[in-house]
Amino acid sequence: MDRVPEDEAAETVRQLRALATPEGASALARAGFLLDAGTDPVAALTRLRTEVGTDLAGPAWGIARQRQKARSTFGADAERLLFTADTLEQAGRPQLAARRAARLLAGGADSVADLGCAAGTDTIALARAGARVLAVDLDPVARELTALNAAALGVDDDVWVVAGDAVELVEAARGGEVAGCGAAVLDPARRAGGRRQLDPDRWSPPWSTVAMLLAKMPTSVVKVAPGLDHDRVPAGIEAEWVSVGGSIVEALLWGPAVSTAWRRAALVRDGVVHELTADADPGPAPAGPVRGWLHEPDPAVIRSGLVSLVAADLGATLVDPTIAYLTSVGPAGSPWVSSYRVDEVLPFNLKKLKALLRERGVGRVVVKKRGSAIEPETLARRLRTDAAGTATVVVTRVAGAPTALVCDVSG
Ligand SMILES: C[S@@+](CC[C@H](N)C(=O)[O-])C[C@H]1O[C@@H](n2cnc3c(N)ncnc32)[C@H](O)[C@@H]1O
Repeated sequence: MDRVPEDEAAETVRQLRALATPEGASALARAGFLLDAGTDPVAALTRLRTEVGTDLAGPAWGIARQRQKARSTFGADAERLLFTADTLEQAGRPQLAARRAARLLAGGADSVADLGCAAGTDTIALARAGARVLAVDLDPVARELTALNAAALGVDDDVWVVAGDAVELVEAARGGEVAGCGAAVLDPARRAGGRRQLDPDRWSPPWSTVAMLLAKMPTSVVKVAPGLDHDRVPAGIEAEWVSVGGSIVEALLWGPAVSTAWRRAALVRDGVVHELTADADPGPAPAGPVRGWLHEPDPAVIRSGLVSLVAADLGATLVDPTIAYLTSVGPAGSPWVSSYRVDEVLPFNLKKLKALLRERGVGRVVVKKRGSAIEPETLARRLRTDAAGTATVVVTRVAGAPTALVCDVSG
């Protein structure tokens, strides 16, 4: 997270406190109403200034806009929570924070240090799961948001918000406790200057603090970037990748007392969590020729290195040792893959592909690719004709050769 100048932070804290008063709540409600009604921002601010005063109008409008964005993730709570643009961007999903909190506390820990609380998503989830939470942040705006949000959701009796540096607290951790708590959550800021920090040594706190926390705190969990290199994961630490709707939304490293596997893939679909684990690296799946069905593994399975478990379960093989597409004789009833019926297999050649689609009456395709430089949208446009049929075209490598698989032809 970028450090905000002190004056600016003090002014934001003052505005947040003003919004937490009954007058502030009315201003927020009015701003929310105008926003939901689609009022032009300039007109809305003019009206707000007249109705609630110049001091509250701007901040109320700003928070109302963040609440509107937060609604799809935070549901009804969004109407009571306060976020700045920065803290909303860094906030995790509350359902996943609740899942993490439940697992962290399952061993009996009752006090948790949330090291870098931002707007308090993890703090609130931990308090709701029954823990006493010490919420720590370097940023005064984050601390104010966490305190106000914990109060707004009625968990403030179990939350203590303090200024502190997670780096120093972790260095001082002893006997399985950090800042007097028996468990810890660390979610380092992984953006700076509006850009993602790909190098874990540049996160805040940096990787050295992550590694030290996992070494010193048996009951801990760290949120890391989904692209984290497997080589970084310390021995005895479980790494987990979680996907929702086919995209990875978080990656976690679990402290030694909570780790129960080498790697875990978790997938959330329709509110149900599916999990897949391995106690040791299962190695790659075998490769073989393309058969009647192609299966695209969920990214959580791919990132966690568990494709071969899914392959064994489906009786499937890889189409190429370096490509994460599986193939088998029959369709798969598995949450871990999306399956496509293979209707045609041909060496990748635009002219031949066009001719084949014409022959089969296909005018619209969805293009998927793996291990190919083609641009899916561009290829789909080039393959488009007036014909009524549809298909999925998968461009990939099969046993090293650029190949097009024409799947699910219909119409
Ligand atoms: C990614 S955010 C946490 C998001 C939070 N878990 C959530 O889901 O809403 C990281 C937070 O860590 C704080 N932070 C960064 N470095 C810190 C440090 N050394 N000590 C304490 N807090 C720090 C930032 O100010 C920021 O609020």
